[in-house]
Amino acid sequence: MKNVLVTGGAGFIGSNFIRFLLSHESGVRVINLDVLTYAGSLLNLEDLPDPERHIFIKGDICDSDLVNSLFQKYQIETVVHFAAESHVDRSILGPGQFIQTNIIGTFTLLEAARQAWITDKLTPLENCRFHHVSTDEVFGSLGQNDPPFNENTPYSPRSPYSASKASSDHLVRAYHHTYGLPVSITNCTNNYGPFQFPEKLIPLMIINAVAGKPLPVYGDGMQVRDWLYVDDHCEAIYLVLKNGQPGETYPVGGDNQPPNIEIIRTICEVLDELLPQSPHVPHSSLVKYVQDRPGHDRRYAMDISKIRSTLGWSPRKNLKSGLMETVSWYLQNQDWINAINQRGDYKNWMQDNYAERGQKK
Ligand code: NAD
Ligand code: TYD
Repeated sequence: MKNVLVTGGAGFIGSNFIRFLLSHESGVRVINLDVLTYAGSLLNLEDLPDPERHIFIKGDICDSDLVNSLFQKYQIETVVHFAAESHVDRSILGPGQFIQTNIIGTFTLLEAARQAWITDKLTPLENCRFHHVSTDEVFGSLGQNDPPFNENTPYSPRSPYSASKASSDHLVRAYHHTYGLPVSITNCTNNYGPFQFPEKLIPLMIINAVAGKPLPVYGDGMQVRDWLYVDDHCEAIYLVLKNGQPGETYPVGGDNQPPNIEIIRTICEVLDELLPQSPHVPHSSLVKYVQDRPGHDRRYAMDISKIRSTLGWSPRKNLKSGLMETVSWYLQNQDWINAINQRGDYKNWMQDNYAERGQKK
């Protein structure tokens, strides 16, 4: 790996991945293409190791002229594609941008890679890799006793977000089978950790609890997600880039499946421990059951045998210590939180998503 195009590198997982890559791969140069939507911020990239090996380009993955020019100018031989609209609730209220970014954006990148690597032969194809970062949500929803998803599970996406990610996965595979583009895909479960935008469950609960605001639990709170600490996801992607086979798909997950309400109660306990003087102790008194998400997937779980046996990866961090570190990070980064809290678009989102939900019980 020499010249790596990371898309969406100012977002949650992308910024953590760049930090991981720069500290693990001394000869690498990262070209970070990010349009800086509400979810992306240069504040996420302030503490990079070796920042001179990171080049930030503000731009859209749907802009084919720009993307083509980056392949030429920087002799890109590796793409790690994170850029996406990533929040299910936003996809329910406004699906259009998900179709544009997640499907058209991925198509634009694939076309640029095909042009540079196969048509123009700018770099030897055996050195190239297009890695697509995807989600377990493409597989749909599990019943209580169903076995976990694996790499052979048929796709059955049920939200505009997961349908758009499923489409992008299909395009990536099609470019491998049709044009011989060297691709790989990881389908990962829910991530958590530093720099996650506080629209997702874990950072939202931390920030609301610290501020003494209600903790909105959708439906009965018994939906199940499989949680993975973000650094573990970064390591899995890194190993797939180094040793994974072109054309292969690797499920990634945390082997960790508590119901939402249990996660929320654990966060509250951690906060009670770290902030014993807070007037909001016990923080669990802030829990408020609200109207459910439409089409809410009940359960996700991932069988990670393939990446465990072929690449020797397994999650390093257990959920309790990962949550402790994550809560501590948010407590120590109040400036980062304030920068988001002050933004009108964040206040509008909280209003749009939560005002109508009311109280369930
Ligand atoms: P995020 O929403 O935090 O960040 C997305 C980034 O992409 C932002 O920096 C944003 O500015 C950028 N972006 C959006 N549209 C763009 C465009 N048109 N051009 C260039 N940049 C654009 O997302 P995340 O949580 O870091 O997720 C990253 C990837 O990982 C996504 O593809 C997501 O589907 C996948 N994924 C996420 C999770 C999770 O739990 N967060 C789990 C599995 C897979
Ligand atoms: P989220 O973090 O949005 O991830 P995803 O929907 O991609 O799994 O949500 C995780 C779980 O938490 C999901 O079951 C929905 C639930 N949830 C709430 O109960 N309340 C909330 O305010 C949010 C944002 C999510």
